[in-house]
Amino acid sequence: MRFLPSLFENNRRWAREQVARDPDFFSRLCAIQAPEHLWIGCADSRVPANEIVGLAPGELFVHRNIANLVLPEDPNCQAVIQFAVEELGVAHVVVTGHYGCGGVKAAFGPPAREPLEGWIRHLRDLRRAHGTELDALPDEAARVRRLCELNVAHQVATLRRLPVVRGAWERGHSLTLHGWIYDLGDGLIRDLQVSSDRPEA
Ligand code: CO
Repeated sequence: MRFLPSLFENNRRWAREQVARDPDFFSRLCAIQAPEHLWIGCADSRVPANEIVGLAPGELFVHRNIANLVLPEDPNCQAVIQFAVEELGVAHVVVTGHYGCGGVKAAFGPPAREPLEGWIRHLRDLRRAHGTELDALPDEAARVRRLCELNVAHQVATLRRLPVVRGAWERGHSLTLHGWIYDLGDGLIRDLQVSSDRPEA
């Protein structure tokens, strides 16, 4: 193997281990994909979706981008949500942010180059919208931390208004939205208590 031979070696070992543990592992996955959860998380390499919630391949449908944004105008994210809800029929959509998020931190810094800045701009807008609360905090670390949480809550609120999500609820499909935050410091997830399983009253 000419490029990244160690990764191919890891992969062969991994595949061998799966079959040793469960001989039907791959044939079962080939036949059906029926995850119950859609994970919308940050692209950060320190937040590996399946690993931190102990779910095996086949159990978590995943979309990741910088700072776990759910933008109605982002066809990538929207297609994932549509497919997960309408085709896979997931029962849960979990937006998981994390403390120490570089994307959120960037909203407090100088402009980046495009196209990154166009993405960060959404976080700058959110920072501005919550300016009073954030400015009252003692330092920038606390402000970044709080914006990480506010960002998750904002994305869950966006999800709640999406036609795909509302449509599922109207059809009587059981679908719950969740907002979580992961702490890089101790590996633990905290529920931000912004869950929702019906449209706004
Ligand atoms: Co991040």
